[in-house]
Amino acid sequence: MNRWTYDEFRHCGVDYSDEKQAENYDNEHGRFRDYGKEFDAMIEFLSLGNTADLSMIDLGCGTGATSIYAAKSFKKVYGIDVSEMMIKQAKKKSDIEGIKNIEFINTGFLTYTHKYEPADLVITKAAFHHLPDFWKQVALLRMNRMLKLQGILYIFDVVFHFDAADYESRINDWVAGFEVKAGAKFRENVETHIRDEYSTFNWIMEGMIKNAGFRIEKSRTADGFITEYCCIKTEEVNI
Ligand SMILES: C[S@@+](CC[C@H](N)C(=O)[O-])C[C@H]1O[C@@H](n2cnc3c(N)ncnc32)[C@H](O)[C@@H]1O
Repeated sequence: MNRWTYDEFRHCGVDYSDEKQAENYDNEHGRFRDYGKEFDAMIEFLSLGNTADLSMIDLGCGTGATSIYAAKSFKKVYGIDVSEMMIKQAKKKSDIEGIKNIEFINTGFLTYTHKYEPADLVITKAAFHHLPDFWKQVALLRMNRMLKLQGILYIFDVVFHFDAADYESRINDWVAGFEVKAGAKFRENVETHIRDEYSTFNWIMEGMIKNAGFRIEKSRTADGFITEYCCIKTEEVNI
């Protein structure tokens, strides 16, 4: 590692290395998310039929919600996260369910090396904004290397679709909406996200995805913030 390499284990913004934060995560997110419905919507969006022979890497898996759902129908799942505490919660939940085909690994976008067959699907959900843009580009190249040719990359994250000149009103409205959906405490997390984390514009994100050897098959956003991308690996990159 170079002295200039980004330290992805030093949490920016919301501190997911904190034990209490990890323990409360599912309660807080449960106020406005249904993990099962999200999983089914992702599978439909990606037009995945029978997943029994497929492998999936979940980068920034957190408390394992998506990894655990996937393990019930996929052959093998790798859940990757820089937070030992989030991984601890994920392992606890998957052990309770008796799941045997997930490997949870305490590492990250910039440090995980996939030592197995290239995966069919790489996903990252609500985690990619933890990297500044330069390192997002590096991470996308690394994701390319983790995937089979024609494999799918699914990104779900906060991406800004508005005109930069309108940032103040657009962000104020969006933050206020979270207070209504998830309460005042969660509003603070959303403010922290905007202030201290690294969500970016759609045109930057899309340029970086294409530069990393992917075709964007489709994308969607309901609110101009939370965005999903279905991308196909069309070429191998050297990194
Ligand atoms: C908002 S949570 C999302 C968790 C989960 N994907 C979900 O949908 O609920 C963000 C997660 O990204 C993880 N994270 C932050 N930086 C990371 C990195 N560089 N590599 C891997 N995971 C990272 C955090 O530890 C945290 O668990």
